[in-house]
Amino acid sequence: MRPSTLITPIPPGLHVGIIMDGNGRWAVARGLPRPAGHRRGAETVRAIVEAAPDLGVRTLTLYAFSSDNWRRPEREVAALMRLFRAYLRGETRRLMRNGVKLSVIGRRDRLELPVTAAIEAAEAATAGGTTLHLRLAIDYSSRDALARAATAVSRDGGVAVTTDSLGVALGAAYGGGAAAPDVDLLIRTGGERRLSDFLLWECAYAELWFSDVMWPAFTAQDLGAAVSDFHSRERRFGGLVAQPVQAPAARAV
Ligand code: IPE
Ligand code: IPE
Ligand code: MG
Repeated sequence: MRPSTLITPIPPGLHVGIIMDGNGRWAVARGLPRPAGHRRGAETVRAIVEAAPDLGVRTLTLYAFSSDNWRRPEREVAALMRLFRAYLRGETRRLMRNGVKLSVIGRRDRLELPVTAAIEAAEAATAGGTTLHLRLAIDYSSRDALARAATAVSRDGGVAVTTDSLGVALGAAYGGGAAAPDVDLLIRTGGERRLSDFLLWECAYAELWFSDVMWPAFTAQDLGAAVSDFHSRERRFGGLVAQPVQAPAARAV
């Protein structure tokens, strides 16, 4: 059994997805090379992972590297891959101590062996975590995940493609365990207001929060502000706001 398929029950709670954007601009604004922004971004990841459980977050999906990010200069991609490896190796003990179960979602076949080895080791070591499910999206494309899930379901001769069967296949297509969980709150830092091929299916009813703060400068307080705003929203899922029950009007006789 692959480590990522080990099922550990995580108590129900919020699923927050974060598009961690703005590392490069944060660095350039300080006269630093872009990878310095990615390194500072990894420190933000640690702070946010540690703050999340107390805010009621039980699943946290972080967009670390999109499948389109392969288009970046080779040096930047190489620096990012080194950083993923260092993060996975360096953080595993801390994640275990904090009860974090780590899964990586995305394609693995294009990652270099030392990166996939670090992923598998971190997943296996943290599989027993029950406080927070941290899902790191690496070489992730939501559209590719959907295409793979649809292919898997249609290969299942005679089984109709339903939202349920596709959701389950989507969870299986890209790792991370059970059926793709719905996102409650989607945060994007760095000022852009787009999804960039992240969790398109899972965000069907997500509340959206866009922050102008660059990811390396994003703090636990910023996460707290987003979560508290989330709690002030009214989620209707296509239904109606609950109306106070009114006594039927007296009928004229
Ligand atoms: C997000 O920061 C991290 C990755 C995409 C890997 P960027 O590197 O996109 O930073 P900006 O958007 O160029 O500032
Ligand atoms: C999205 O950011 C990917 C990650 C944060 C990992 P990008 O910086 O790659 O997205 P675009 O190019 O601005 O849409
Ligand atoms: Mg960006």
